[in-house]
Amino acid sequence: MTLDEARRLDGKDELASFRGRFVVDQPDLIYLDGNSLGRLPRATVERMQAVVEQEWGCNLIRGWNQGWYEAALRLGGKLGGLIGAAAGQVVISDSTTVNLFKLVMAALKLRPERTRIVSDVFNFPSDLYVLQGCVRLLGDRHHIHLVPSGDGIGIDPQRVYDNIDEQTALVTLSHVTYQSAFLHDMQAITERAHQAGALVLWDLSHSAGVVPMELDNWGVDLAVGCSYKYLNGGPGAPAFLYIRQDLQEKIQSPVWGWFGHQEPFEFDPVYQPAEGIRRFLVGTPPILSLLALEPALDLIMEAGIERIRRKSERLTEYLIGLVAERLEPLGFAQMSPREATRRGSHVSVRHPEAYRINRALIEELNVLPDFREPDLLRLGLAPLYTSFAEVWEATDRICRIVAQERYQSYPVARTSVT
Ligand SMILES: Cc1ncc(COP(=O)(O)O)c(C=O)c1O
Repeated sequence: MTLDEARRLDGKDELASFRGRFVVDQPDLIYLDGNSLGRLPRATVERMQAVVEQEWGCNLIRGWNQGWYEAALRLGGKLGGLIGAAAGQVVISDSTTVNLFKLVMAALKLRPERTRIVSDVFNFPSDLYVLQGCVRLLGDRHHIHLVPSGDGIGIDPQRVYDNIDEQTALVTLSHVTYQSAFLHDMQAITERAHQAGALVLWDLSHSAGVVPMELDNWGVDLAVGCSYKYLNGGPGAPAFLYIRQDLQEKIQSPVWGWFGHQEPFEFDPVYQPAEGIRRFLVGTPPILSLLALEPALDLIMEAGIERIRRKSERLTEYLIGLVAERLEPLGFAQMSPREATRRGSHVSVRHPEAYRINRALIEELNVLPDFREPDLLRLGLAPLYTSFAEVWEATDRICRIVAQERYQSYPVARTSVT
């Protein structure tokens, strides 16, 4: 596999022009962490300038009646279009962790007689902490069952089905797992859970904006997700939550805040939940971060989620080929699914020195991947701005770091954020 071939693939890339829509001020920097923090869209820079100077600077408090108040729902509607949700079922709010807490508590209340919660060993730790915290809050009546992995990469769907029984209140999984990028079969698992009378809550953090899905058509009950990864909303951008239309009047948030009240500005001392998804809002939204998300969502809608997925599959396939040809001989092992339909948009490779290799790539060769304990180098491929030539070049730089043992000069002690 050669750089010329990679350039030919870039020449045929139907999304190539989208790279120019992002701030790319260091052409030599190879950014492979869009699965953690997406790049900055140029349109966001302009929009934020207008929001800060005009909307905040000049409009001041009037901004609330000029679009801010409805923004969480309005942008939720746009985001819903990317995940197969019709209007009125998605709202932007809080962080993914907080949204998960709200929805887990609400779901467990809907199945009061059931005591089993099913997740898997690959779910994001914060999600597992939330589950543990909810179990504690509800009096330690529930048990969390984590479906194991056979190969350290994927989860056999049969094992998930086997864990769902008549006692199961909730099945909650990351659609794409953060370590290996394994992609669960959302439709099949949702169907199985429903057959057993359980509810399903999906964490879409690593799939929203890069994997097409049909929440409504597949009957998904609940979902949450981050907007700072492939959705490019910016560091700490507010997250989203989805509640299927017909569940909305049946469930209540465990956090009763004024933004979830039926009439917040009546200042009623007694809580009355708003109708619809708005009852899951809590307090004043972070308007600057919320509005920063809009140009990023518009960009993804313009590119089209199907085209994004097509390129994502090609990019990950291409990288997996390079790993086999060039990295495996240097002691790396593939840690992502070989089957494109079971894979998200990052590729993980294992190496005993992954942490120090990652440090050396960042410090010396201008490549920004990330490291996940204990020995994974994660390479995130964001179809809107990652090129095939960059994937080739990054692999070449990894080879240099390893072949020349340049990682040896870095300490094994971890930096605070890896
Ligand atoms: C799959 C998944 N879920 C949840 C989270 C936590 O998100 P937040 O920090 O916004 O609560 C992350 C963060 O990276 C994640 O990758």
